[in-house]
Amino acid sequence: MRHLMNPLDMTTEELDRLFDLANDMEQNMPKYAHLCEGKKLATCFYEPSTRTRLSFESAMLNLGGSVIGFSDAGSSSASKGESVSDTIRVISCFADICAMRHPKEGAPMVAASKSTIPVINAGDGGHQHPTQTLTDLLTIRSLKGRLGNFTVGLCGDLKFGRTVHSLIEALVRYEGINFIFISPPELKVPDYITEHLNELQIPYKEVIKLEDCMPDLDLLYMTRVQRERFFNEEDYVRLKDFYILNKQKLSTAKEDMLILHPLPRVNEISVEVDDDPRAAYFKQVQYGVYVRMALIATLLELV
Ligand code: CP
Repeated sequence: MRHLMNPLDMTTEELDRLFDLANDMEQNMPKYAHLCEGKKLATCFYEPSTRTRLSFESAMLNLGGSVIGFSDAGSSSASKGESVSDTIRVISCFADICAMRHPKEGAPMVAASKSTIPVINAGDGGHQHPTQTLTDLLTIRSLKGRLGNFTVGLCGDLKFGRTVHSLIEALVRYEGINFIFISPPELKVPDYITEHLNELQIPYKEVIKLEDCMPDLDLLYMTRVQRERFFNEEDYVRLKDFYILNKQKLSTAKEDMLILHPLPRVNEISVEVDDDPRAAYFKQVQYGVYVRMALIATLLELV
């Protein structure tokens, strides 16, 4: 039995197979419509979500399976003091696979250690968000035809943004990647990540102004400033609108640069950018369903 806690839990060969399967599911949806008949997915979300929870549920329904779960810790017995370890033992009696989001780093890993069904980390605090990374990689591979040889700009809250941490870890395994980290000093990418890049001799630079690096970028990954992870409101208010991507700032970008964002968006991408052919963030949401379909089928050993 396998779990998914981190994007590195799968080799690049396994990821290639997963993405091939996701692309086939996209092209041939009816072929997979009964694959998970009789199987149940539990979505255990202790933290708010729109995309991740609903795309997991949509993925399981597309595969002919069914879904149970909770979308709020307050409506589960966590509010009475039940531990994650006990909850997953209970969920293991009800479902065949579980997607869990939790505000505490490592909570899905604790659940996996006690589980008799596959557990998928659907985001743990400021740590990791592996299925968002699978979504990001599938989007890049599908729209660009490759996963290597890119200058990747990551912009915004690089300190608390778990999608950023997971994506960097995943991209370093491909050839010819170099990173430009664009953030205010207070929201810099954590030291453990830059130390790891130094060890691997992966090139990166850190800048404050998006305009300074825009012409160099093949991929621009925008992120929201994570209000829920700030210790005080004053710092959040000071930093929340530090970056606003608009048409004028895009005027120096490459014609074929992809603009990605895990969403939700607040102000960091102006709505006027949505019609730009480079804006890929809503396509990204759609790819999230296909990759979660492929992941569920793979972890349930049905393909
Ligand atoms: N990208 C993402 O994790 O969105 P949700 O918080 O809506 O699930």
